[in-house]
Amino acid sequence: MNSYGRIVDYLRISVTDRCNERCLYCMPEGYHGWENKPDHLTAAEILRVVRVTAGLGFRKFRLTGGEPLVRRDVPEIVRAMARIPGVETIALSTNGTKLAALAQPLRAAGLRTVNVSLDALDPHIYKTVSGGDVNLVIAGIRAAVAAGFESVKLNCVLMRGVNKPEIWPLVLFAAEHGLPLRFIELMPLTSTDVLTEKNFLPVAEVMELLAQKDELIAQPDRRLGHGPAKYYLLKNTGATVGFIGALTNPHFCDTCNKMRLTADGKIRPCLGNHVELDLRTTLRKTDDDDALRELLVTALRLKPFEHQFRENYTPCRPMTAIGG
Ligand code: 5AD
Ligand code: SF4
Repeated sequence: MNSYGRIVDYLRISVTDRCNERCLYCMPEGYHGWENKPDHLTAAEILRVVRVTAGLGFRKFRLTGGEPLVRRDVPEIVRAMARIPGVETIALSTNGTKLAALAQPLRAAGLRTVNVSLDALDPHIYKTVSGGDVNLVIAGIRAAVAAGFESVKLNCVLMRGVNKPEIWPLVLFAAEHGLPLRFIELMPLTSTDVLTEKNFLPVAEVMELLAQKDELIAQPDRRLGHGPAKYYLLKNTGATVGFIGALTNPHFCDTCNKMRLTADGKIRPCLGNHVELDLRTTLRKTDDDDALRELLVTALRLKPFEHQFRENYTPCRPMTAIGG
């Protein structure tokens, strides 16, 4: 499907809004706005949406959350998705804490790539960011590498006052394990204390910081996966580093190829725009896939040309519910 000349063939599916961590940029402290369990799509409903979207030309699917792996049926969902005609790639975004036990079964089920959030290596800073234990994540990353995924990538959300000192250690860790590391600009996705101008750290500044330590060689042809990152090879360190300038890159939306399905069954054409359409009601009301197709095509037509993050965007619900 086409939107402003962009081929939209990538669906990100939030399978739950629950999470076992509490990242500063994701969930407001003391958050209680959880969806009711019955409002979450069932595995069968998720698979039906995958079937219909694959029929419309979607090829890449990513399971996210919340933390997708707090939901126990994820390996079964992956296994069933892998058998749907048109599904080419199944990916997962995770905080990594449950990956040590699940990497192997997920790989066997047909999962191809994994992105792991890693905002700090220092256990104290990691705990400040997410509330959790970095050693679980590192064990998860090792398990993912051992499981033989086609790619395992690391994601770091930049927060000046929080994890700036961790940038170089993370680069060394990425180089040591041969994993691409992406630095992501903090987006106003939920209203938390960390969202201040002072904490915003633009990717350009991180590039300058890295350039003082190593030589950055642009990899213009490198589109690892299908994401919006711009990649560089660090000449001496050997690390591959990507930059996601969600707020500072004026062309960020030019190549946007995705739509999102929220945990409660809303289709959301853009992360940085409040438009969403309710698929769940139709999913539960009728077996007629034409009605779903019609909603999906309408959602695509409503996909805006670009996000509104630069225009005093105020989030309407937390990232956990939308799907990273
Ligand atoms: N800004 C930038 N990235 C975010 N993520 C979640 N919330 C934000 C935010 N406010 C990304 C992180 C996390 C993934 C699930 O979503 O990369 O790893
Ligand atoms: Fe959980 Fe991911 Fe949100 Fe952190 S960013 S609280 S790991 S869903």
